[in-house]
Amino acid sequence: MARVLFCLLFVGLAVTFASNRRLRISLHARENPMGSQLSQRFLSISTNTSSSNSTDRRIRLPLRNRNNVEYFGIVSMGTPKQMFKVMLDTGSSNTWLPSSNCARNNWACQNHRRYNASRSSTHVQDGRNFTLFYGAGSVIGYLSKDTLHFGGTQLPNLTFGEAMFQYQEVFDSVIFDGIVGLGLGERAWANSTPFLELLCAQQLVEECVFSVYLRRVPGSMRGGEIMIGGIDKSRHSGSLHYVPITEYGYWKFEISKVSVGMENIDMAVSAILDTGTSNILLPEQSFDKLHKALGATTDYDLTFVTCELDVLPNIKLLIAGRTFPITPRDYVKEVLLEDNIKVCITRFSPINLSFWILGDVFLGRYYTVYDATEKRIGLARAVPDVAIAA
Ligand SMILES: *[C@@H]1O[C@H](CO)[C@@H](O)[C@H](O)[C@H]1NC(C)=O
Ligand SMILES: *[C@@H]1O[C@H](CO)[C@@H](O)[C@H](O)[C@H]1NC(C)=O
Ligand SMILES: *[C@@H]1O[C@H](CO)[C@@H](O)[C@H](O)[C@H]1NC(C)=O
Ligand SMILES: *[C@@H]1O[C@H](CO)[C@@H](O)[C@H](O)[C@H]1NC(C)=O
Ligand SMILES: *[C@@H]1O[C@H](CO)[C@@H](O)[C@H](O)[C@H]1NC(C)=O
Ligand SMILES: *[C@@H]1O[C@H](CO)[C@@H](O)[C@H](O)[C@H]1NC(C)=O
Repeated sequence: MARVLFCLLFVGLAVTFASNRRLRISLHARENPMGSQLSQRFLSISTNTSSSNSTDRRIRLPLRNRNNVEYFGIVSMGTPKQMFKVMLDTGSSNTWLPSSNCARNNWACQNHRRYNASRSSTHVQDGRNFTLFYGAGSVIGYLSKDTLHFGGTQLPNLTFGEAMFQYQEVFDSVIFDGIVGLGLGERAWANSTPFLELLCAQQLVEECVFSVYLRRVPGSMRGGEIMIGGIDKSRHSGSLHYVPITEYGYWKFEISKVSVGMENIDMAVSAILDTGTSNILLPEQSFDKLHKALGATTDYDLTFVTCELDVLPNIKLLIAGRTFPITPRDYVKEVLLEDNIKVCITRFSPINLSFWILGDVFLGRYYTVYDATEKRIGLARAVPDVAIAA
């Protein structure tokens, strides 16, 4: 199959807002891997080097949570460190930050922290430009290299984009300044090694894996944690269920069946795990079937269901022989309208794609492991509401 088609796919970032009647903006990111070389890469993460002892080389990166729609962590770029809030996005592979050279009238850039290359002694020029396409706009700039600091670790020579222009409406309203892509090399800029592979190539972690624990406690800013280089067993209950990834680049795998009661919503369909998407996005025909099964009504591009959660069914995802339910508590959002009327909307959105995008709604319920060495993802029930000092 022509893998160049990757660049036409919608992936990555989707931000959803809910306030009063301005209920939802949903944006699906599209990405164009520059030059899209898609060379076959192999992760050779050598096992124990002779002398090194197994001190804990897992890196913990605490997350902040804004209203269960936006998760971000703190990293720094350069020497001395310049600090940024970043979205750690499993749905894309490239990293970018706003540039201090960005357009004066680009509020999305001016209202965020900006990276100033001339203040960093470790900055290296790349000389190439980039454009990342999103559903409703784009991020344009040029590539640089510098040292990324996060969770007490430093990662030298990370290629990242300095954004000169960011599409305003989307990137102005988010808290995070930029994005660190946690996807794999096939979807990264040509001749650049993305975050995870660079980290593994430099042997900064024991294992080429990371794990995501998203905390969804109303009103709490503590958003959970990404653990890089390992798995935190205290964050999940039951065994991890591993599934091979079906498309290297994405964290993509196959769902055998999606059902509601006796009703089949989808069969043998692919899905990606995407921390950069708030909701669950699904192909339009499946979306229609699902909403019929839930007795939902649609208005203002929103899908309303009853607020009596007890009468709503679970949605069951059958993945490699194990069922992963999504409950009404996960997929229903209560919204108070201006006149104090409570309505309930679902956290599902249709998308013109052939695969599902399992965003924060799913990742809040399930602890997920992203294993680049074994080319698989792991799923287990997340331990709900574990307090983390962030
Ligand atoms: C190496 O591991 C052993 C046994 O676990 C431990 O006693 C020792 O302190 C470790 N050494 C270092 C340098 O971490
Ligand atoms: C690698 O480290 C693990 C745990 O520290 C140890 O059990 C294993 O024997 C080591 N393997 C080699 C090849 O040194
Ligand atoms: C970047 O840093 C340099 C050196 O401190 C400074 O002269 C310059 O004004 C800064 N650029 C911007 C756009 O802030
Ligand atoms: C990058 O973009 C700038 C501004 O549009 C342009 O002047 C420059 O020629 C471009 N460089 C390359 C290598 O395309
Ligand atoms: C980073 O790149 C520079 C040259 O661009 C090189 O000298 C240095 O060894 C690299 N560092 C690592 C850790 O790869
Ligand atoms: C859905 O995507 C296909 C292929 O990308 C395109 O041809 C079609 O026009 C799209 N449909 C809508 C409603 O946007």
